[in-house]
Amino acid sequence: MKRDESQFQAALNTLKYQNNNGALFNIKKAFFDDINRFNNFSLKLDDLLFDFSKCAVSKNTLRLLENLARIANISSRRDAMFTGESVNITENRPVLHTALRAPEKCKILLGETDLVPEIQSVLAKMEKFSNAIRNGLLKGERGNPFTDIVNIGIGGSDLGPAMVTRALRPYHNGPACHFISNIDSAHIIDTLGALNPSNTFFIIASKTFTTIETMTNALFARQWIANSLGATAVCKHFAAVSSAINKVIDFGIDESYIFGFWNWVGGRYSVWGAIGLPVMIAIGSAQFRQFLAGAHIMDEHFRKTPLMTNIPVVFGLVGFWHRVICNYPTRAVIPYEQRLKRLPAYLQQLDMESNGKCVTSEGTQVTTATGPIVWGEPGTNGQHAFFQLLHQGTDIIPIEFIISVNSHEPNLQSQHNLLLANYLAQTEALLCGRPAEAAYTQMIQQGVGENEARRLAPHKAFPGNRPSITIMQDLLTPFALGRLLALYEHRVFVEGILMNINSFDQWGVELGKDLANSLVKMIEGEAEDSTKKSLSGLLSHIRAYRK
Ligand code: F6P
Repeated sequence: MKRDESQFQAALNTLKYQNNNGALFNIKKAFFDDINRFNNFSLKLDDLLFDFSKCAVSKNTLRLLENLARIANISSRRDAMFTGESVNITENRPVLHTALRAPEKCKILLGETDLVPEIQSVLAKMEKFSNAIRNGLLKGERGNPFTDIVNIGIGGSDLGPAMVTRALRPYHNGPACHFISNIDSAHIIDTLGALNPSNTFFIIASKTFTTIETMTNALFARQWIANSLGATAVCKHFAAVSSAINKVIDFGIDESYIFGFWNWVGGRYSVWGAIGLPVMIAIGSAQFRQFLAGAHIMDEHFRKTPLMTNIPVVFGLVGFWHRVICNYPTRAVIPYEQRLKRLPAYLQQLDMESNGKCVTSEGTQVTTATGPIVWGEPGTNGQHAFFQLLHQGTDIIPIEFIISVNSHEPNLQSQHNLLLANYLAQTEALLCGRPAEAAYTQMIQQGVGENEARRLAPHKAFPGNRPSITIMQDLLTPFALGRLLALYEHRVFVEGILMNINSFDQWGVELGKDLANSLVKMIEGEAEDSTKKSLSGLLSHIRAYRK
């Protein structure tokens, strides 16, 4: 399944050469030359629209990208992931988060074992538990039902459930959910400050149950409960989601309150299983299953659709095009959907922890760029902050607009119309720009004097020809959100294959963790100061100002 590298490089060079590294393509003109450009360069899956017509790609570009996808063995690599081969080659693990959202009737074999019954039994346990919390049957030490759930976790054990819970606010009919991730004491103090221990239930979410941030916050929370309700209350106020069952039991959590997951689920792909427990508590199990069903629809589409009508494949190819051929260093994700405020942060982990690598799967230095910097904020807020640079800055930043045709507030339709209009205006302005001459004429029509209009025209000109992608759905339902997240997961997978890197490990987070462990001893004065010049100055400054 290893790709033929010389064939791939030759195809890459042809792609670069025939497209002048993406430089000269006039997107606006392409809409005049091909009146069907929107249809020819967009794809649909039910109500989901994926529109890449405003990217600098021609039919020939697509043909050459398809050729790359074939040489990179995208289809067989995808099948290897879905069928449980150890595609995470540096940790020797299969990657089977897709199994977490497979319907009950599916059979997914890992060796001799069918994974589906195990997955369904964890889901059933989550269901029973979340129903008991939601119905007030599960009570705390003082006999109170739980009004507040606090998830303590970080990275994949926080970003997924925190983002999804926020995104699905209109479906909340359970207790309030809060999320604590940062080791900064401000996070736990500010969150617990507003809560009453008698009504508060904690979920400690950590695959390894060793992550320093999570364990430190968990110990604080345990003390907070014990101080107020007594040590025996801990087993009534804590559950854990982890694959390290013994460590959880040592912490004092009752076995019946432990929800497991498997080492074939990476942290950033884990919201579909027990890590999604806060989501299930917030929206109920039926809606949670809708969330899984949406992701499964995208899995099926990804598995079964031919390459160039396959949305995640084309999304990945266009992403590769922007990053590797056009050499754009970043991509912005702009949800015109306030409830998706944390989506950019979630996608930062998904994309940058997966594809921020500098060696190939074979362990050699990469020869092309790898994962881009991912960032973003909701529109319209971003328009009043960084869109200036997107329109007139010297870097080209492809933008991914995400928007729903309808909102959950039908009686505020006029506000949603304004949101839609703003999104349309931005994507159009990025594409068309405005020549200095047009800016000049407009000012003259507005009564500005000729000299002043000449002076200001260059400042008011927009270069245009700036690429954007639109992902549009009917409404941000649990189903639509599941489908959207699975789309992004598979897109990251496709890009990783094209870049020939292992998207499923994250060794790059280890070095900082190791250093922090030894440095805390120096800060606490338990170890000699570092002899490194880069550290000793900072350490002595900390010491000088320490109160
Ligand atoms: O430090 C990175 C990381 O390992 C992520 O990949 C993971 O999602 C996060 O830490 C949390 O890990 P855990 O769930 O084991 O606490």
